[in-house]
Formats: sequence, structure tokens, C-alpha cells
Amino acid sequence: MSSTLHNFNAGPSILPKEVFTDASHAVLNFNNTGLSILEIGHRTSLFQSVLDEARSLVKELMNLDENHEVLFLHGGATTQFMQVPMNLLNENEIATYTETGTWANKAIKEARLFGHVEIAGSSRDTNYTTIPKNIIVSPTSAYLHITTNETIAGTQWHSIPYDCGVPLVADMSSDILSRSLEFNKFDLIYAGAQKNMGAAGVNLVVINKNILGGVSRIIPTILDYRNHIKEGSMMNTPPVFAIYVVLLTLRWLKKKGGVAAIEKINKQKATLFYDTLDALPVFKGIVAKEDRSKMNAVCIMENQELEKEFLTLCMKEGMIGVKGHRSVGGFRISMYNALPLESVKAITDLMKDFANKKS
Ligand SMILES: Cc1ncc(COP(=O)(O)O)c(C=O)c1O
Repeated sequence: MSSTLHNFNAGPSILPKEVFTDASHAVLNFNNTGLSILEIGHRTSLFQSVLDEARSLVKELMNLDENHEVLFLHGGATTQFMQVPMNLLNENEIATYTETGTWANKAIKEARLFGHVEIAGSSRDTNYTTIPKNIIVSPTSAYLHITTNETIAGTQWHSIPYDCGVPLVADMSSDILSRSLEFNKFDLIYAGAQKNMGAAGVNLVVINKNILGGVSRIIPTILDYRNHIKEGSMMNTPPVFAIYVVLLTLRWLKKKGGVAAIEKINKQKATLFYDTLDALPVFKGIVAKEDRSKMNAVCIMENQELEKEFLTLCMKEGMIGVKGHRSVGGFRISMYNALPLESVKAITDLMKDFANKKS
């Protein structure tokens, strides 16, 4: 195998090298305290300052107003699939969902446990290779839920339905902090940290506090967003190390110039990848061009033997995580914030060489 590795994993995925270095120092000696980050109490001023800085960096990088609270919660984005309807949807009410793939469907399944679900737009007919357009949301809906980036299908919302007329909720697990959006127009954003934000084990939840308090059910204490806001994400022991890695990743992003700056690089990477894909007939893009994800690019080959051959070559050349999800097949190239442009250059060069040899 090549000594230079290029990490295209879909998640957990590549993080900046300096994050790994600083995180490993903190495991041995956190801020020169002689203690590991893993052994300091979460209610010490040492950890409180980690949490405070992480919260304030999220606010700064997303340019959030004072109505939007930032929470760091346990349970991965999957917990949010149920926590969102539990807090926002009464049993006799409707919530509107868009059905764009595996992740949207998981969210829909959980919402149905709490109330009625209306599907405002579905790409099931195109096998989830498109994003629904012109969605109409009933004004009585408790909220609209979108999955801004479908990690498996390789699609992404490029036109956000900000003016849907009801609270807008988004699963941003796989494109959080990768592009400039009008974050204050979302009423609830959730994202597992393990792609663009840090290590697995913590969830970012950004919530407009004004949408809370409208459901009549009794919400278990640990699942009620209002309690987490009140306690500043410190109701119980938070995932301290995962939050520390988020802090380091946010510091890195700020140093890079923030979301707008990383978006420029993400665009360059995606353009290089998709231009290469479109120029090589041996590879086939399956997602509608206007809905292609800048985070997870999906493609196949008509010939399964050639697919295997290319995957073997990728392995030999140090290209990690290129195999597509089992439900889609082919290849998935994940190009999260921390992936350098050089890695996309490396894989597109490999694709060109391979295509030349096969033509
Ligand atoms: C878009 C999206 N939503 C939700 C999830 C589930 O996240 P978790 O594993 O943190 O529960 C994933 C995981 O990859 C995802 O890509």
C-alpha cells in the first residue's frame, strides 16, 4: 500500500492533523495541568471553559442570533430523529417531512411514533438520485424537516426552503459548517459531529428557543431541550472528550477563515471531482447534476468486474473509504472540510489513469 493515505471515509472521517495532535496532547497533559482531559471533572472551570468556547465558536461561525441556543448532546443524530418530534409534535398534529433517502426515512419513521407525518416531497421514484422541488407545506404543520445532505445517496439541497411558512428543522449531519447558509432561518439544526465537526459521541443541536413548550405530552427530563438549555448542556456528564475535539475542529475552521472560506475550497474539490467524472465514460454519475452533493460524491461503473479492479487499485494507492454504501454500490468519495484538495487531485488522477488504460 502507498505510504500517503487519502481518507475518503463517510464518517467517522478525516479531521485536520493538528486536531489529532492537540487532542493527543490533551489526553496526556491538558493545558499543562498535569491531568488528562479524560480525568478532569466536567463541572470544573477547566472543562467549563472548553464548553463555553465551543459554544461561542459555533455561534460565531454560524453567525447565530440571540434566539438560537447551542447544545451539545449525547446519542448521535439518530437520537434527534425522535427527540425532535417528541419536543415539537403533538399527537393530533402533522409534521411535514421530505423523503430524500435513507436518513430522511429514518427520521420519518421516528416522527410517526409521535404524531402524523405528511410527505411534502419525495425522491423515492428516482431511487433518491434527486432532491424534490417546489414542495408545498401545509400552514398547520408543526414543522418542515429536511435532510440537507443525504450521505448515502450523495444528494444535497442547494435551494433551502427557508420560506416554507412553518418552523424549519434540518438534519445537517453530513454538511454542517461546510457552506454558508442562513442559519438563523432554521429553527432547529442537528448534526452528529463525526464528519465535519469532530469525533463521534456528541451531537450539535442549534435551536430557536421560541419554538419550544408547545407540546402537551410529558417529555422525559433528559430528552426535553428546555432542560438542556437551562443547564447549559450540563444536565448530566457531557461527552467531554468528544466536545474537546469539536472545540479543536472549530478553532481550526476559524483559523482557516470560517465557513465562507471552507466553502470555497469545498467547491473547488467538488468541481474537480465532478468535472473528472463527467469526462470519463467508464465512470457514471447517478445523481441528477443539479442535486449533487459537495460532501459525498457517488458514482458507479457499468461493469462490476471493473469496479472491483478499481477498488483494488484504490487500496493499493492508499485511497481509503472509496467503496460505495452497500445500498448504492459503486464508489462514494466523501470530501468533508478536512479533506485536502490534494486528495481529490490524487483520486481524480487515478480515475484518469484507470480510464485511459481501459479505453
Ligand atoms: C445525514 C445523516 N443523518 C443521521 C446520521 C446518523 O448519525 P449517528 O450515527 O450520529 O446517529 C447519519 C450518519 O451517518 C447521517 O449521515
